[in-house]
Amino acid sequence: MEQLVARLRAAGCVFAEDEARILVEAATSDDVTDDARLEALVAARVDGLPLEHLVGWAELDGRRWGVAPGVFVPRQRSELLVREAAARALSLAAAVGAGASAGALPGAASEALSGAEAGPVLLVDLCCGCGALGGAVAARLLAAGHDVELHAADVDPVAVTCAHENLEALAAEAFAARAAGADRAQPPGRLSAQTYTGDLGAPLPAEAWGRVDVLVANAPYVPTEAIGMMPPEAREHEPHAALDGGDDGLAILRRVIDLAPALLRPGGHLLVETGEAQVGAAVGHLEAAGLVPTVLTDDDLGATALVGTAPLT
Ligand SMILES: C[S@@+](CC[C@H](N)C(=O)[O-])C[C@H]1O[C@@H](n2cnc3c(N)ncnc32)[C@H](O)[C@@H]1O
Repeated sequence: MEQLVARLRAAGCVFAEDEARILVEAATSDDVTDDARLEALVAARVDGLPLEHLVGWAELDGRRWGVAPGVFVPRQRSELLVREAAARALSLAAAVGAGASAGALPGAASEALSGAEAGPVLLVDLCCGCGALGGAVAARLLAAGHDVELHAADVDPVAVTCAHENLEALAAEAFAARAAGADRAQPPGRLSAQTYTGDLGAPLPAEAWGRVDVLVANAPYVPTEAIGMMPPEAREHEPHAALDGGDDGLAILRRVIDLAPALLRPGGHLLVETGEAQVGAAVGHLEAAGLVPTVLTDDDLGATALVGTAPLT
């Protein structure tokens, strides 16, 4: 193991110990390590292939998500967006439940929310890649006992196949957990997940428009000129279209923001990631689209995310 760690470190792997452990795990089954397979994996890693593409999964929010070669690898910093999206979905579901059952909310909030049935949380993941972000938000809601209807879309069919497999597995797991915990006071929720190939919101079903509780979109936001400065794992092994956000990095994000008001229900939330330098322009665009902006940062994760909330009236 020490030799392996040293080899990976010499190749520039910052978390060499973790990577060595993961590569050994990938080459091991029934407690037997296939040395030839391990050597092939290590050689490929030293050659610069992303660890996640080699082993076929990436971790996000405490779960493993399948990620095929050529598909964007989910980043740890996206946990900020996942955490916040789930928290907002939960408080919206609580408000809808309270408003629908008891007319408990005052004024405009009551009017906007109490007409809604306390049905499944309606979640959309645009630019979904392997589906990890929407899936991770859904997993948190399911664990809290909420049913979830998730629609995930991406322009890249390889990414959509990956998302389909990940979300199908999550739905099956939720089904099994529900069966196992049926006698609990609050059994886990049910997941209905659909995936689509196409440009941003274009492939989403007509029934979803105007009803979405939470829309997450980790769209490409790297300015075109900055792609050349990214680590080789990203610039050589992830599709250009997964990274390239145009001249200022906001070309696709602006389009996501523009379509959000038509997708969101009153009080619903759009959550996106940006670079720090893009916050001012992105906040301005959220406001221009009629959404109420909130800026979120997490220094430990090195993450910046924006929320745009649809007004209640
Ligand atoms: C930064 S990656 C994020 C993937 C995933 N959300 C994640 O965080 O792991 C951006 C994704 O946007 C997709 N994409 C780029 N342009 C798009 C468009 N016009 N419509 C839909 N998806 C698009 C890419 O294929 C890529 O999967």
